[in-house]
Amino acid sequence: MTQTADNAPVVELDHVNYEYTTKNSVVQAIKDIDLTINQGDFFCLVGPSGCGKSTLLKTIAGYIEPTSGESRMENEIIKGPHWKRGVVFQSATLYPWLTVRKNIEYGPRMRKQSKEEIKESSDYYLEQIELSDFANHYPFELSGGMKQRVSLARVLANKPKLVLMDEPFSALDAITRLKMQDFLRVLWKKNNQTILLITHDIEEALLLGTKVAVMSKNPGTIQSVFSVPYSEKVLNDKEYRIEEDSEFMKQKYAILKAIS
Ligand SMILES: Nc1ncnc2c1ncn2[C@@H]1O[C@H](COP(=O)(O)OP(=O)(O)OP(=O)(O)O)[C@@H](O)[C@H]1O
Ligand SMILES: [Mg+2]
Repeated sequence: MTQTADNAPVVELDHVNYEYTTKNSVVQAIKDIDLTINQGDFFCLVGPSGCGKSTLLKTIAGYIEPTSGESRMENEIIKGPHWKRGVVFQSATLYPWLTVRKNIEYGPRMRKQSKEEIKESSDYYLEQIELSDFANHYPFELSGGMKQRVSLARVLANKPKLVLMDEPFSALDAITRLKMQDFLRVLWKKNNQTILLITHDIEEALLLGTKVAVMSKNPGTIQSVFSVPYSEKVLNDKEYRIEEDSEFMKQKYAILKAIS
């Protein structure tokens, strides 16, 4: 993996528009999006349902090409999916016939890494997701949160430059969700990862992100981008309680107001 200096742009979107053309209509899902995600950013995207969040993620993933405008990753125009951009969806995407370890090793195997490298990396990620004891289990033997952790490890094992997450925790119960947020925050920091996370939960965005972008509806545009310190605060101060942070509440309210 090439090293990118801290804060150097990883993704740049320039006047990106996307229109879905169906039999009867043309829907402009996103309009004139200018966006930069820098190395090490934990970039969260919030906005009302249908405002174009997933469409925006798909253009960055390379699943769809902008109708007009340009999306670039490390100065190259994004054309099609690539392992450098790992995508985690709402529900875990695992091969049911492969064990947890084999699921994590799938990408590196496809990329023909050596046996030793593959084993070393799956050991590392199994430990990071705290599922070393479940290496030889199959997905059906895992809980929802465990499966989602394996999905994340599967993506990280490819050493992607950028992790794209579309509401990854919304199918999980409240407690598992909190655990997963803590877990992802630590992983982000430890691996100096660059992440784009879509969520409809403003509190989740504020608690995880270094930046929170708010999208508006019909067609989706980026309305404002807030820089937020809470993820770092949680990581650096064990005593920190968001409930007692009036700034947090103020910012949450400001974003709520921007959305509605
Ligand atoms: N495959 C498609 N064909 C036609 N229109 C689509 C398609 N996918 C999405 N749209 C439309 O594009 C707009 C944006 O959809 P998108 O899924 O990006 O929104 P979203 O912000 O991710 O919503 P949610 O929060 O509900 O997931 C919506 O009006 C939707 O109806
Ligand atoms: Mg969506």
